[in-house]
Amino acid sequence: MKENQIQIHYNTYQCEELSESYKNLMDRSIEAQHNAYAPYSNFKVGAAILLEDGTIFTGNNQENAAFPSGLCAERVAIFACSAQNPNINIKVIAISANSEKIDINTVLAPCGSCRQAMYEYESKQNAPIKVLLKGPDNEVVEFLCVADLLPLVFHCDGLKKVR
Ligand code: THU
Repeated sequence: MKENQIQIHYNTYQCEELSESYKNLMDRSIEAQHNAYAPYSNFKVGAAILLEDGTIFTGNNQENAAFPSGLCAERVAIFACSAQNPNINIKVIAISANSEKIDINTVLAPCGSCRQAMYEYESKQNAPIKVLLKGPDNEVVEFLCVADLLPLVFHCDGLKKVR
């Protein structure tokens, strides 16, 4: 038996330390929370995507009485973005959450399905997508690429025919 370790890298900032463009992107993700449809969880998530040409796309979580039919903010945003701009690279995605009923005292960490979905576009464009996660107390956590958020990610190479 051999024990192995995987290290992940991330940076932490105070909001004020972000560049104007990233600060604006995080603000857009916070704004996007307002249109979340979250009557079941009361947990409102916003995502804002910055494309290479400067366009910003936003999304928010959309819930459903049949729970699994709802979708997280990250996937709402990235699927809409790719549906409308399939050939423009994604540079950054900023994600934030808020709730009137739940005390959010940790960083908003995207779920596994959203990490896998975001990775798909990083892999497709063959260029990193930076991820900014809003934490409590004005903190922002930065991952330089989606792959850093998903060690041992399932990659499309796994689907290539070998025979
Ligand atoms: N949610 C997101 O939108 N993004 C995440 O990364 C985690 C969870 C949503 C799904 C559901 O509407 C609510 O938050 C509670 O899980």
